[in-house]
Amino acid sequence: MKFFVDTADVAEIRALTALGLVDGVTTNPSLIAKSGRDMSEAIKEICDLVDGPVSAEVTATDFDGMMAEAAKLSAIAANVTIKVPMTEAGIQACKALSYDGTSVNVTLCFSSAQAILAAKAGAAFISPFVGRLDDIGQDGMGLIEEICEIYSNYDFDTEVLVASVRHPMHVVDAARMGADVATVPPSVLRQMFKHPLTDKGLQAFLEDWKKTGQSIL
Ligand code: E4P
Repeated sequence: MKFFVDTADVAEIRALTALGLVDGVTTNPSLIAKSGRDMSEAIKEICDLVDGPVSAEVTATDFDGMMAEAAKLSAIAANVTIKVPMTEAGIQACKALSYDGTSVNVTLCFSSAQAILAAKAGAAFISPFVGRLDDIGQDGMGLIEEICEIYSNYDFDTEVLVASVRHPMHVVDAARMGADVATVPPSVLRQMFKHPLTDKGLQAFLEDWKKTGQSIL
């Protein structure tokens, strides 16, 4: 399973990259706004830090506008993935960009029907938003299970990128279902390290070690 980091915060990405856990990055207009950064500059810096795919989202809502924005975003770095919304224009842009060899992430997916359309349009990634479905009382992880089943029925190359992740169990459930990628907010990635028995066990080991008076170095 690949881990993408769901943020446009360059300092956070740098810190998590140092841990060796970052396979890619996803951004969206809200995350860019939160960072307070110029989008092109932030995406360039992120692409310099991370070898894997870095999703940069178009904000045009028509096909021509999306294609023009995609050309500008793609020119930033070779590892930019163009993110398009799950709309008719977005799917049309996905098909045209994918045909030309551009990596496309179809975002704002909330149903299996939408996921089928994205795969048919040649998307490199489909981003189902599990947390936002849970928020309205629907089964976010159930959608991941359905999409994984459908994609494997047809050997679609589109990777299932679990988005809108809110807690470590979303990641664990996604892994059990065989999802290809989880895009994880930095706070959730850090939560994944935590277990009270790890802290307690380490404390006991260190106390016992101290009693021996030894030093490894
Ligand atoms: C990532 O690609 C998505 O834009 C992101 O995961 C959405 O997360 P949110 O629902 O927490 O805003």
